[in-house]
Amino acid sequence: MLTPTTKDFVVTVFLLIAVYRVHKFWEALKHVNFLPGMRPLFTPLIPISVLLPTTRWNPGIGWHWKWRKTAYFNRTHEVISVIPLLLGRSVVYISSLSVMKQVFGQEQKIGLNKPRYLSAAFMLWGDNLIASDNQLWKRHRKIVSPAISNRTYELVVNETLATCKELQEAEGWNDQQELSVKDIHNITRKLALVIIARCGFNFPTKWTDIDSEEVTAGRALQTVSATLILRLAAPRWMYKLPIKLLRRMDIIYPWLANYMDRAIAERQEIVNNTESDQLDCDLFTCLVSSLDKDGKIGLTKKEVIGNTFAFLFAGHETTGSTIAALFAFLSIHQGEQDKVLSEIGHILSGGRDFVYEDFPRFKHLLACIYETLRIFPAGFIVVRETTEDIFIQVTRPKEQTICIKKGTCIAGDMVAVHHDPYVFHDPESWIPSRWKEVYPVLEGGETLKEYEERVIVQDSTGLSAISLGIGPVSVKLVRRNVDV
Ligand code: HEM
Repeated sequence: MLTPTTKDFVVTVFLLIAVYRVHKFWEALKHVNFLPGMRPLFTPLIPISVLLPTTRWNPGIGWHWKWRKTAYFNRTHEVISVIPLLLGRSVVYISSLSVMKQVFGQEQKIGLNKPRYLSAAFMLWGDNLIASDNQLWKRHRKIVSPAISNRTYELVVNETLATCKELQEAEGWNDQQELSVKDIHNITRKLALVIIARCGFNFPTKWTDIDSEEVTAGRALQTVSATLILRLAAPRWMYKLPIKLLRRMDIIYPWLANYMDRAIAERQEIVNNTESDQLDCDLFTCLVSSLDKDGKIGLTKKEVIGNTFAFLFAGHETTGSTIAALFAFLSIHQGEQDKVLSEIGHILSGGRDFVYEDFPRFKHLLACIYETLRIFPAGFIVVRETTEDIFIQVTRPKEQTICIKKGTCIAGDMVAVHHDPYVFHDPESWIPSRWKEVYPVLEGGETLKEYEERVIVQDSTGLSAISLGIGPVSVKLVRRNVDV
């Protein structure tokens, strides 16, 4: 039973908190110039919100997909604000390509920052290109850029061929006419991880390593990528509990750190003993060549490791999920699947292997991949913080200029952008032919990177092209008909 004084104290504290929250809420509303939108309990991007289910009071991260048809006031607004009543920062969400271009198209000029609290998972191993912004981003980008070349794409094609052959052998698919795969996502994610580990870093990762009981590079990379969030959330004492996964993580994380140290030392020796024009500039070599103790011009050892993991993790989940979704769509749309198979049969006549130069000829398959990326954009949100007031022009609900004030969190909603009914006719349907009109431009000599930048708002590095490289090869190798 509360005594009257304790009761008064509790009521006073409660009232003070309520007044403080009302004041904060009012300030937040003023900060976004009373831009209409959602008023949930928590900001959608903070851990508690992500962990709880999507409801009216907690949009979480599920709302982009779940409410894609009705959000943004039934698509009548190009931008909305989300202001939490209890916890977290307010965020301005963008749902149209035209506003995305105004904001993200001049990211360097208007000085947008990446909110650090959102990059925590990427920062676990060290600073890197994905988590950094401004000058730091420029330093990382300059070092990484030479590794993103046609030579890399060629390597991706070759390694994809080799890995798919290993996969077929290991899974006993070679002499089967019909295959039943329970979890294609698991296979495509592994495939992407092995290929990126081999092409980007020359890590000796075999298909069979990934599921082995022994600790191997492949197995360790897979465990680390699957448990990043848990690693961030679990306090040290939890590792003493009899939980198999945590015990295993406690062995694998230090093992991988040690492995990385040795890999860097070995690569540094190669770099030191090879003429620079003879060096194969894969991503890991570029990173190690730039080692510099102070990290003023080059990278520190921690940043080399940070970038290695950032690339592995940013690349494999996105690519693996996109290819799994592609298989699913092809299985539902048998007519489109027939067209893909006949295109493959035509281009690779006589059963020859895919080579990099074949790439732009797979027009229908490319259209299927783009359409899959449109329906399920694997990087579903891009978040920044403004460092000065910026002005955007919107046309919905009416033509007007909106000021986004300095210090506002601004998020590009990729699901909304790619499902925009004002841009894509029948946005819910998977229609690869909607990409048809862009084919002639590709033939006119446009590079794949330019093509990607123009038609789809995805990965600013052009690295998602890697998944496009993996796509045709894996579809070719799993060439039999796909059924659900
Ligand atoms: C379907 C495949 C992919 C999709 C949909 C995708 C999506 C994205 C998106 C939306 C961003 C922008 C994030 C932001 O600025 O906040 C991004 C950045 C990035 N992605 Fe990808 N990505 C894909 C494949 C890959 C692959 C294969 C790699 C590496 C092997 C990769 C590495 C990166 C890196 C390093 C960045 C940061 C670039 C920078 O800030 O300059 N991505 N990706």
